Amino acid sequence: MAATLLPTLSPPVSRAAALLLLRRAPPLPFSLPAPLLRRLLSSTPSPPVRSPAFRFLATMPSAAAAAGGSRAMPDRADLLMLGIETSCDDTAAAVVRGDGVILSQVVSSQVVQKALNDANVSESDLCAVAVTVGPGLSLCLRVGVHKARKIAKEFRLPIVGVHHMEAHALVSRLVNKDLNFPFLALLISGGHNLLVLAHELGKYVQLGTTIDDAIGEAYDKSARWLGLDIRKGGGPALEQLALEGDPKAIKFSVPMRQHKDCNFSYAGLKTQVRLAIESRNIPADHISISSATEEDRQLRANIAASFQRVAVLHLEERCQRAVEWALKMEPSIKYFVVSGGVASNQYVRTHLNHIADKNGLQLVCPPPSLCTDNGVMIAWTGIEHFIAGRFDDPPAFDEPDDMQVMQQINMVS
Ligand code: KG4
Ligand code: ZN
Repeated sequence: MAATLLPTLSPPVSRAAALLLLRRAPPLPFSLPAPLLRRLLSSTPSPPVRSPAFRFLATMPSAAAAAGGSRAMPDRADLLMLGIETSCDDTAAAVVRGDGVILSQVVSSQVVQKALNDANVSESDLCAVAVTVGPGLSLCLRVGVHKARKIAKEFRLPIVGVHHMEAHALVSRLVNKDLNFPFLALLISGGHNLLVLAHELGKYVQLGTTIDDAIGEAYDKSARWLGLDIRKGGGPALEQLALEGDPKAIKFSVPMRQHKDCNFSYAGLKTQVRLAIESRNIPADHISISSATEEDRQLRANIAASFQRVAVLHLEERCQRAVEWALKMEPSIKYFVVSGGVASNQYVRTHLNHIADKNGLQLVCPPPSLCTDNGVMIAWTGIEHFIAGRFDDPPAFDEPDDMQVMQQINMVS
């Protein structure tokens, strides 16, 4: 079993530790980001920090002490985290309390101000700002990091750099407060297909990943090729049409059956869908589904349903093996987390629930609004790391913004 132990990056508790971390961090897909702000390495002294919770944590001798030391932590309900998510086309922001209460959640433009207004809080009420630092489109990530740094600089707030996929996994702990480490997680989105064994906060073993495309990409392309209305996303459109089709109508082959591992492949299935459309002369490239004849619509629905059946069967087979691997490594595992945009699909949820049941595990699948990209997952992951003492100092006033931002993003992607 080719399990890779990914690096655990400790909190930037000292400049020396930060130097060590930056030297150690390899560019792996699911490693925690090294400290967001390289400013720790600069000699410029920090202006004083305003956040009361930060002042408290900053005086603690270590992260472990911050998480469980003899002095009482501030009440979780007193921690207010602003989360900013810009890894994709949309921007999302949210304010979440340390005890998991979502005070606001906003998507689209002017999100940050609206998230603060909706939560009825101002920047000076926050304990810190959390922001996605990767993986994602670097131009988009820069927008969020720039904004987060601006707020952090002005209001003297610490920053938590968040790994997008870790946030997809950890939001399940906001949803289910009994969900303790270790647990198994399947993270399925437009760009990633990951099976990870989460040992503890920041410590993950990757059991499987895609060798080509992620399942979300296969849903999106298939939906487009079938001529569906993809304004609200290809995945939801295909899921809808599949309800009208016969999932056994077309015999697509299940990927990677000869590979006895937990990796995924969706490029071949995508090609099978394209060939099925072409060989049946479906005019999907110039006639949209809304104008299709009844017979044509049925054909497209059959392709959609058959694709979905095999796409999810592939998930099921790899998850079954991953459960077996994970239970051998950590027999105490009780939960199977399924998250990421594709986890909002009802067919996916039902079938993975079956895998969890069969193996005596409990499925934790966040509600659809927390499965697709959102600010809440970033704020919540920010809270988890902040409580563990993992955050960066507020940026110094004289720090050059753009250069720093670029460096930080390259480090994690
Ligand atoms: O996590 P996410 O919101 O963004 C990324 O990090 O990529 O996932 C987006 C992906 C898209 O490919 C989208 O089509 C897919 O999740 N998705 C779905 C459904 N809702 C979103 N796929 C299948 N069925 C759905 N209901
Ligand atoms: Zn995502």
